[in-house]
Amino acid sequence: MRQWSPASWRSKPAAQQPLYASQEHMARVVTQLASLPPLVTSWEIEALKAQLAEAALGKRFLLQGGDCAERFEDCSAEAVTSKLKILLQMSLVLVHGARKPVIRVGRFAGQYAKPRSEDLETRDGLTLPTYRGDLVNRPAFTPGARAPDPDLLLRGYERSALTLNFIRALVKGGFADLHHPEYWSLGFVEQSAMAASYRAIVEQVREALRFMENVLGVHAGEMERVDFFTSHEGLHLVYEQAQTRLLPGGAGWYNASTHFPWLGMRTAGVEGAHVEYFRGIANPIGVKIGPGMTPEQIVQLAEILDPDGEPGRLTLIHRFGHARIAACLPPLIQAMRSTGRTVLWCCDPMHGNTRLTADGIKTRHFSDILSELEQAIDLHAGCGSLLGGVHFELTGEDVTECLGGARNLTDADLKRTYRSEVDPRLNYEQALEMAMRIAGKLGQGNP
Ligand code: PEP
Ligand code: CO
Repeated sequence: MRQWSPASWRSKPAAQQPLYASQEHMARVVTQLASLPPLVTSWEIEALKAQLAEAALGKRFLLQGGDCAERFEDCSAEAVTSKLKILLQMSLVLVHGARKPVIRVGRFAGQYAKPRSEDLETRDGLTLPTYRGDLVNRPAFTPGARAPDPDLLLRGYERSALTLNFIRALVKGGFADLHHPEYWSLGFVEQSAMAASYRAIVEQVREALRFMENVLGVHAGEMERVDFFTSHEGLHLVYEQAQTRLLPGGAGWYNASTHFPWLGMRTAGVEGAHVEYFRGIANPIGVKIGPGMTPEQIVQLAEILDPDGEPGRLTLIHRFGHARIAACLPPLIQAMRSTGRTVLWCCDPMHGNTRLTADGIKTRHFSDILSELEQAIDLHAGCGSLLGGVHFELTGEDVTECLGGARNLTDADLKRTYRSEVDPRLNYEQALEMAMRIAGKLGQGNP
């Protein structure tokens, strides 16, 4: 195969890249970015890869979730803490239901760049670049806000570092200790329709820990303190390249801005610059798979991205929508099976289920999301495969962006607290309910 370097993507067509006015300005920023320390280490990245390899074999389960797009203004103690809390609560429910350890991966500390279907947006006769995430420009519809600004790459790197620093400090301080799930309680949990069921699960997990420790004399060890890994869509190739390093302790080049970058559906073309970049980094990588992907394409992608069939290297994140998954997924499972590869299959039940309300608001219905997940579990089982993970857009906050759930949010509710600039997220209650609804099903067949 052709020689790879962190810059070899530049000889390929790169989709979804912003146009900057000044190349000199960009060059200055890239020099700075490339001289700043890495955000993650090779040891952490390899530890995650080893855990993902176990998930592919059914020994662990991957929970990946967070905002569609992080906002710079949400780099605050409250927002970060509430994201960790909901991921912890969901993972506790999944550990309990699926009866296996859960790998927690946030869509955070770097999820700042977004693919868009249009380059330009026109309002009242004025045409401006589309909003591509805080790493690139700002959502306000003014020429100043929408002009791509290279300095935002530095601001994004800094906020990623601040977020990760805070997460590491919380985890080290015992925030994520399974003995103390009371730390993870969100203020409004008590009013939630889910509160009683969640409390019952917490009690059962506590009881199991007490039994292990007091009766069996086994210390919960690894369970005691849980890790969080970071992930984001590897979209902005100039940014990703500047963070690509030969790290101590590792073998080869790593993307040091995150543990687990993923290739978005719009940039997964085998001839494109993104696939070229991703094939050379040593991180575990995710690939979003949509309805347009043929069995031949997915096999070709796997051969390019994971020529050696390395355990944990490849996670295929399928996102077909509840109406299409039954037709789309089985041929892909069979195609991968015929290559003899073991990959981790993960379901993103969000991106194939987006719809517009009569008022033109982007939303998703809880029951469509749940239906895609339930079908994914059954379809994998029916093909002798295994659903090893789930990928959600969610927030620990009390927003009203997705319909349905225990409170049965309706079109009218969406106007109340709709904060996302891009895709609608499950709110705290909907996310916890989703974990509860799938946990039992995931555990079927497990001891
Ligand atoms: C996303 O995960 O926010 C996204 C844009 O997904 P996809 O590439 O699957 O459309
Ligand atoms: Co999204």
